[in-house]
Amino acid sequence: MKVLVIGTGAREHALCRSLSQDPAVGELHCAPGNAGIARLATLHPVDQLDGAAVTALAVRLGADLVVIGPEAPLVAGVAEPLRAAGIPVFGPGKEAAQLEGSKAFAKDVMAGAAVPTARSYVCTTVAEAAEALDAFGAPYVVKDDGLAAGKGVVVTEDRAAALAHAEACVGAPPGSRGRGRVVIEEYLDGPEVSLFAITDGTTVLPLVPAQDFKRALDDDRGPNTGGMGAYTPLPWAPEGLVAEVLETVLQPTVDELRRRGTPFSGLLYAGLALTSRGTRVIEFNARFGDPETQVVLARLRTPLAGVLLAAANGTLDELEPLRWSEEAAVTVVLASEGYPADPRTGDPIEGLDAAEADGTAFVLHAGTRVGADGEVLTAGGRVLSVTATGADLAEARAKAYAGVAKISFKGAQHRTDIALKAAR
Ligand code: AMP
Ligand code: GLY
Repeated sequence: MKVLVIGTGAREHALCRSLSQDPAVGELHCAPGNAGIARLATLHPVDQLDGAAVTALAVRLGADLVVIGPEAPLVAGVAEPLRAAGIPVFGPGKEAAQLEGSKAFAKDVMAGAAVPTARSYVCTTVAEAAEALDAFGAPYVVKDDGLAAGKGVVVTEDRAAALAHAEACVGAPPGSRGRGRVVIEEYLDGPEVSLFAITDGTTVLPLVPAQDFKRALDDDRGPNTGGMGAYTPLPWAPEGLVAEVLETVLQPTVDELRRRGTPFSGLLYAGLALTSRGTRVIEFNARFGDPETQVVLARLRTPLAGVLLAAANGTLDELEPLRWSEEAAVTVVLASEGYPADPRTGDPIEGLDAAEADGTAFVLHAGTRVGADGEVLTAGGRVLSVTATGADLAEARAKAYAGVAKISFKGAQHRTDIALKAAR
């Protein structure tokens, strides 16, 4: 089987790593990829948002499956021309991807499917936003309606800061990512869980839950980021969580989207808060989470390509139950100086081979590129995800941080508390 993966991140590197270990995969391609993926797959310098170019590449390669990793090409509708060309695609079409692309759309689907989520108002003026903030009170939650790579959400006790973010979102010109709308919602307390499910639009297969660390700094301080680390399993999670979320969130959402004539196939990501009043959806994403994928796939024992192809072909109901390792997995993100606001790039990275030398950890690349002399350079905000498995979280964590300690680049930053509380 020939597989083409679209994207550039550590999530795509993790997908490529699992696909390269699947004996059914004979050829692996990635567009555009990064310096780490280049070791596993043939890279193609194609603009991932250009549906015609991606389709032309897939046709030329004779791809049996295209896996679209990030949200931007999904929301841009890259899946459509691929499907029109008869190529199986893992990832939803443009309309269903609005589940992630528009928070207002997601809220509407959840209301239609009676999925538990935070109460919210969609506001188009600053005056409306101010009223909504006062209706809920502090802490305030203010969300850019459109895609913002995890950085469009402000959670704050400071009303002026909340209103300023609302104003920035509402002030966005029509057609830009926020489209002049802002979502103000009720604050959800309690721990967060990321639960992914693979679906073909009808059958829903949940994966194992993971936890992401969204804030930039230790002890959940600093700004929201795309995610600074993750682990699985969650020893503290209530028994039956996955079954409950399948029944109350995942299946009803997939059914509702099918009912609306926009069936969702691909990866449905539920970001959940386990509040004192029950499980609530914080957000949906239309693709694998980054960095949670790095740890979830590290535990998946079923060969990945067949699962993704069954989702693309609508035959998930024929699949054997997924098999999982009992091991724990931890990933720690190394980010550039200035991430998330203003990441510095172009610095040489040292110690990549050393970090993997004894097989304890493996390094997944995000923002990296190969320089003129073959050296690996930083090329983005999140640079690497250092991942390890172990008999328990403490062991996986120790191995991942041992890998992190061997890597250096100018201004590198990482959290030191990934999986720390859970490991205790
Ligand atoms: P989102 O992009 O919607 O996932 O939001 C990013 C992060 O902001 C989430 O992972 C939460 O940590 C936080 N957040 C979002 N919505 C809420 C909410 N209603 N209550 C509390 N925290 C939230
Ligand atoms: N780790 C959060 C996300 O992928 O959206």
